Amino acid sequence: MQVQIRIRRFNPEKDNQPWWGDYTLNDANATDSVLDLLHRIKWEQDGTLTLRRSCGLGVCGSDAMRINGANRLACKTLVSRIAKAGSDQTKIQVEPMLGLRVIKDLVVDMEPFFDHYRSVLPYFVNDNLPADGREFLQSPEDRARFDDTTKCILCAACTTSCPSFWANEKYVGPAAIVQAHRFIFDSRDQAAEERLKVMGDSFGVWRCRTIFNCTNACPRDIEVTKAIAEVKAALTRGEI
Ligand code: SF4
Ligand code: F3S
Ligand code: FES
Repeated sequence: MQVQIRIRRFNPEKDNQPWWGDYTLNDANATDSVLDLLHRIKWEQDGTLTLRRSCGLGVCGSDAMRINGANRLACKTLVSRIAKAGSDQTKIQVEPMLGLRVIKDLVVDMEPFFDHYRSVLPYFVNDNLPADGREFLQSPEDRARFDDTTKCILCAACTTSCPSFWANEKYVGPAAIVQAHRFIFDSRDQAAEERLKVMGDSFGVWRCRTIFNCTNACPRDIEVTKAIAEVKAALTRGEI
């Protein structure tokens, strides 16, 4: 099938403002991913096209971008998901994620995103080893409390689809809250109080207006808005 791809291009060393590049692939397959198509454009038509990717399998989180207006992983988005049934022509529009500075073409500066991530202490904290010197034990029920939020791959699709984050980049954002949730509700961890302080400040969870874009964007199907609601409940009702 024929696929026409329109890509938002920007090279700060040459361009005063972003522009649209139009490319056509005449022999694409429904089973191609958007990442496959971007690779073909880069390798066959314009080697200057710049994008991030690594695993190609939905695991590393490096190729989140706006595809036809919604944040998606390019490697997990197949042409068949976008193409109209029975049509042999498809149009795809690809842009960098919103809310982060564009470094070049589809590559954005992830540092502010990772600053928010680091602010929630995204690691296990417990200095008291079990008395028998063995592993920390945890019941299956306690493990289940944070199972969903362990699936995050830090792709930023949620945070960069959130209007509250677009309005104020100081908002810690849904991805950082997901990371905080993963440790706050871990019965073995001892730094919940410290994380809840970050969650409760003026750029924490209360900036969330329950818009749900984050949940819709998450390629790991994490119930992001639900996790945020649980952190809000921990702050107001002490439900940990
Ligand atoms: Fe990506 Fe989902 Fe993690 Fe957000 S919660 S960073 S969308 S994997
Ligand atoms: Fe934003 Fe998600 Fe809340 S889109 S406002 S973080 S529910
Ligand atoms: Fe790794 Fe898409 S390239 S998630």
